[in-house]
Amino acid sequence: MDHFNLIDGELHVEEVPLARIAEAVGTPVYVYSAATFQRHARAFRDGLAAIPRAHFAFAVKANPNLAVLRLLANEGFGADVVSGGELARALAAGMAAKDVVFSGVGKTRAELDQALSVGIGQFNLELEEEGVVLSQLAAARGLRAPATIRVNPDVDAGTHEKISTGRAENKFGLPIDEAPAIFDRLAPLPGLNLRGIAVHIGSQLQSLAPLERAFERVGKLVADLRAAGHTITHVDLGGGLGVRYRKDDNPPSPAEFGAMVARVTRGWDVELMFEPGRVIAANAGVLLTEILWVKPGAIHPWVIVDSAMNDLARVALYDAYHDFEAVRPSGETMIANVAGPVCESSDVFAKAREIDLVKSGDLAVLRSAGAYGATMASTYNSRPLVPEVLVSGNRFEIVAGRISAEAIMAEEHVPDWLK
Ligand code: LLP
Repeated sequence: MDHFNLIDGELHVEEVPLARIAEAVGTPVYVYSAATFQRHARAFRDGLAAIPRAHFAFAVKANPNLAVLRLLANEGFGADVVSGGELARALAAGMAAKDVVFSGVGKTRAELDQALSVGIGQFNLELEEEGVVLSQLAAARGLRAPATIRVNPDVDAGTHEKISTGRAENKFGLPIDEAPAIFDRLAPLPGLNLRGIAVHIGSQLQSLAPLERAFERVGKLVADLRAAGHTITHVDLGGGLGVRYRKDDNPPSPAEFGAMVARVTRGWDVELMFEPGRVIAANAGVLLTEILWVKPGAIHPWVIVDSAMNDLARVALYDAYHDFEAVRPSGETMIANVAGPVCESSDVFAKAREIDLVKSGDLAVLRSAGAYGATMASTYNSRPLVPEVLVSGNRFEIVAGRISAEAIMAEEHVPDWLK
């Protein structure tokens, strides 16, 4: 459920007509619904209400906008971060350092030290050497860093290859079979409080079965580690729950996910940690765009919009599907391709799709763009960086400005010896 609805034939975000935002801010622009973020955050927490001790860390990579992070902090979420930049954002948004988890396969020594200096809640280690270095850095500060090791359970998440992380051949996590020996070697290090296990097998999962298999393997590992004398107090189950992009997608609900987690983790006696991203953010945002031209095509017309693959990369990168809807639909449709202005044949949002009938000057949205949308934008083709607007009820506010091509150019410099 979201709060993007037709009111009197015109698409609104909550109570605000999208046309009003286009007029005030221009296009393309990401538009988020605060009520939808809240709804999804609460549905996720409610789905896991049966878990005795749960910690919720929003995967900042999905939508790092400061206003979004603040909204989620107000809903009791901490953050799952993967860089010093994301850590700085979580703190700037008002999240407590102790509620931050640091994931990622390539943390730099400087980032580990930055995270230690602010006292984050947990480091998810990706390799043994990282644990050794973290211990040294922590000990030098007189600290013991709270940490888990992230295991790779060798489970196929059944999702797009480029967003799958839990198979043995992926770069993520430690092979689960080697985890006990690595745990034995890292646990005694003076700068570590090695207290648990983390797992994350991929994103946009449409079925609970792979998650369940992965969690069962983690449960067995926890039992083995305890039998070997280790104290295990935390298990981080990652993110990955899929969302509905197409009308006939049928992803598991947070309640179904919660029921599975409760069943599989019964008796684990740990604090369970979750890192949802997409399920909170995807359907809380749209990319609002104007139709520039309708260009005749060899088979179907090309609807050329003013947003492009640099603003929303998911279609070009993963062949992702995003619904395309007119802001003022007439009820008539057309079969068309929808494409952006960027000079690449991959800058196509939809091919041979039945869409609302549109003409140049009309407004339209690409739906489900609140996760992995603005955050993956670039300035390719020297296009400005797309702005973001947050709507709540009848008000809206620009929460990230459009960064102009000129502002980016101002950071560049031609050496004197070329002049
Ligand atoms: N935790 C870890 C360690 C992760 O790597 C990720 C996502 C998450 C949590 C959040 O997963 P979610 O709940 O959002 O599925 N750019 C791609 C998605 C990349 C996901 C990367 N990791 C896309 O647009 O589909």
